[in-house]
Amino acid sequence: MNNQEIPIDLRPTDNQDEAEFANKFYKEGWVFDQYQEDRINLFRAALFPLNLPDGYVVMFGTHNCKVFQSWCDHWGEDRCLGFELYNDENHPRIVVMDVRNLGKWCSTPVALCWNDIGSWERTPEARRRSYDWVKKNVVVGGYYMERSDNIAGWHLSSNMEKNGFEKCHDVLGGAYVIYKKL
Ligand SMILES: C[S@@+](CC[C@H](N)C(=O)[O-])C[C@H]1O[C@@H](n2cnc3c(N)ncnc32)[C@H](O)[C@@H]1O
Repeated sequence: MNNQEIPIDLRPTDNQDEAEFANKFYKEGWVFDQYQEDRINLFRAALFPLNLPDGYVVMFGTHNCKVFQSWCDHWGEDRCLGFELYNDENHPRIVVMDVRNLGKWCSTPVALCWNDIGSWERTPEARRRSYDWVKKNVVVGGYYMERSDNIAGWHLSSNMEKNGFEKCHDVLGGAYVIYKKL
């Protein structure tokens, strides 16, 4: 989605903080039903069959927890961790925080991560912060699903390779790439 498609009264104003924008936009402007259904189907096909090493299964950006709950049903609640600005469902496995303050969570072993914080276009600072965190915390043999270079808008794949990840496959028509940590 580009800025033109954000409803006028939800567009970020000059100098608006990213978290303030995201809190409003994702609750009031974002159409999530089809998005979530497509992702649940995608994960059943592309993520659930993966042979994961030990470690947490992490979702950055859990919104209303519908997709996250499908992960908990598959991998078990104790193994799943979600990070989000809000937790209206009071889901027990969600860490409520602005991911720009992720420092204290470093050294969390991650077997699989999907980074779905805001977007590279709309909340670049938060997305970069969660991206940098994931790169450090995925264990050898673990997986990381990110946006393709086209959608991220930069050479994310080269940066992943420099950080010891190899591309496994494209999913959802090239919208995402699954990487493995070597
Ligand atoms: C695309 S939605 C996530 C959708 C979710 N993965 C799902 O499958 O339904 C992006 C989420 O990122 C969250 N987000 C944006 N900026 C954030 C920040 N700085 N810290 C934590 N969460 C943030 C938003 O609140 C929003 O719920």
